[in-house]
Amino acid sequence: MSSAGRLGILLPGMGSVASTFIAGVIAARQGLAAPVGALSQLGRVGNQSMTEALNLAALDDIVFGGWDPYTGNMADAARKAEVLQDDILEKVSQELLQIQPMSAVFDEKWTEALTGTDNVKTGSLWEQAQELRTDIQSFKAINNLDRVVCVWTASTEAYILPTEVHQTIESFEEGLRNSDPSISPSQVYAYALVQEGIPVANGSPNLMFNFPAMQDLACQRDVAISGRDFKTGQTLVKTAIAPMFASRMLGVDGWFSTNILGNRDGLVLSREENFKSKEATKGGVLDGILDAEEHPDLYGDIDHMVRINYYPPKGDEKEGWDNINFFGWMGYKMELKINILCKDSILAAPIVLDLALFMDAAAQAGQRGVIDWLGFYFKEPMTRDATDVPVHHLYEQETILHEALMKLAVEV
Ligand SMILES: NC(=O)c1ccc[n+]([C@@H]2O[C@H](COP(=O)([O-])OP(=O)(O)OC[C@H]3O[C@@H](n4cnc5c(N)ncnc54)[C@H](O)[C@@H]3O)[C@@H](O)[C@H]2O)c1
Repeated sequence: MSSAGRLGILLPGMGSVASTFIAGVIAARQGLAAPVGALSQLGRVGNQSMTEALNLAALDDIVFGGWDPYTGNMADAARKAEVLQDDILEKVSQELLQIQPMSAVFDEKWTEALTGTDNVKTGSLWEQAQELRTDIQSFKAINNLDRVVCVWTASTEAYILPTEVHQTIESFEEGLRNSDPSISPSQVYAYALVQEGIPVANGSPNLMFNFPAMQDLACQRDVAISGRDFKTGQTLVKTAIAPMFASRMLGVDGWFSTNILGNRDGLVLSREENFKSKEATKGGVLDGILDAEEHPDLYGDIDHMVRINYYPPKGDEKEGWDNINFFGWMGYKMELKINILCKDSILAAPIVLDLALFMDAAAQAGQRGVIDWLGFYFKEPMTRDATDVPVHHLYEQETILHEALMKLAVEV
């Protein structure tokens, strides 16, 4: 039996990933397409399906909502994203047409590449946070929902480090009242969602929860959070391949990764300040896998470079190139080249579903604060203690995830 009641999934940012995710869930409900890539739908615990074993919400019981600074409904967003083919879009468009984004907390200083936005809230950041809270309450009431979770699918913001205003709940609230320029839109959403007790997963590199005030607030309000930045294409492959070098004691001199993509995410990331946020989450993944402290001769001096090239003709068809310079017996040098041709949003959509359902299950089981066992899904997994080093090794993450899910299955 699936978890009783209706589950609302709120998506700040209703662009390519969000529209592909929603269209896929509707298609799966109608038996038009299989939810490939979603562990929650295809995985098993013992001889039971994961949905049964964990008492996960049924796809039929999900209601979608969200915010975006553009007014178009989800059918428009899906068409603009150019991820899905017309024939399948046609079949799900009736439902997509009904989903209209609420007005966003948005300031283009954080995503300069986005222009022409007209669906935005006004007033102080504090007032905007209160409006978000009202949006959440109305979404719940109008749709007669039992529970709500949120997955951040909006654009990557310009890179920032925490300032004084991010240190305590009081200083942050004061900052909201003064519309402090160092508070980003994603942090205003974080505040409103946590105050409303909504579990949230952060799919972007944004500093949405990674600062003391928000972590304290999540603890104080007993809210489950996780993040950050979906691990989808190149980083997924990187964290699967890097363990091979470590387990064979092969040395690595350099790892050059470049991405070529032409969707709106690529456009936003073509700005230096936004790319810097991505660089931060993509850059650290080798550290825990290729242990420089334990094996300085093998991994002490790796040139790890990550580039993102915005190239409009590619659209959502992202291409990743990796050139790995490694060495073996007697120091002899070799190279491995990986070329991944993927569809960005097709890889991200099942992650959104898994995160929403697992966050909901964790919250229902009474889990609070950082849900660290969901690190499998993130480029820079949040840890319960911010000073802990996160696990990046894909198969270690998988083991942690499965152990946590087994435990959850016993509890429900
Ligand atoms: N596609 C992937 O494989 C992948 C992987 C890792 C992370 N991500 C992250 O997921 C996010 C979404 O990616 P996408 O490809 O859907 O991008 P997208 O540009 O298609 O969609 C993002 C949407 O967010 C909206 N937005 C921007 N600021 C907002 C705000 N303050 N409030 C509400 N909405 C806002 C934009 O208008 C846009 O519609 C990005 O942060 C991206 O870096 C994507």
